[in-house]
Amino acid sequence: MKSEVFKFDFKIYDSIDELNAPDALLLREARKVTRFAYAPYSSFRVGAFAKLVNGETISGTNQENASYPAGICAERTLISVASSLFPEIGIDTIAISYDNLNGKSDHPISPCGICRQSLSEFQERTKNRIRIILSGMEGKVQIIENANDLLPLSFSANDMQ
Ligand code: THU
Repeated sequence: MKSEVFKFDFKIYDSIDELNAPDALLLREARKVTRFAYAPYSSFRVGAFAKLVNGETISGTNQENASYPAGICAERTLISVASSLFPEIGIDTIAISYDNLNGKSDHPISPCGICRQSLSEFQERTKNRIRIILSGMEGKVQIIENANDLLPLSFSANDMQ
């Protein structure tokens, strides 16, 4: 028997004011695009804004449905946009924010499990690590340098070979 430890570093900033200019721009845009979310059922609007490796920027928001499971998170909407408009181009950095119409938006939220799986496969497929910036409309900001850090021991296409 042996035991292994998984640990990763991530940075916590007190506010957007501590970020460098390019990161602050992405977070500001993620906060702005939350208004394009379609979230009549949860009132929880999530906005994602990313810079691609080729310099292009794209956004995604959560899109809900009366048939609840048909809804899609902001992160996977963004991945679909990236893959549709710029096939095989990696995501350099994605900023994710949210507007909670029923509560506060003052701390970072982290991608859900399905989105972690999608980010991980997109990263693998494009061979480019994805940086993640997380924050609410105000307050602390977390920066994670590699999306795979959020999904240890993940299942991937390699497991089916
Ligand atoms: N949501 C996202 O868009 N991203 C996440 O990482 C967490 C949850 C959405 C899904 C749903 O429309 C609403 O937030 C409430 O769960």
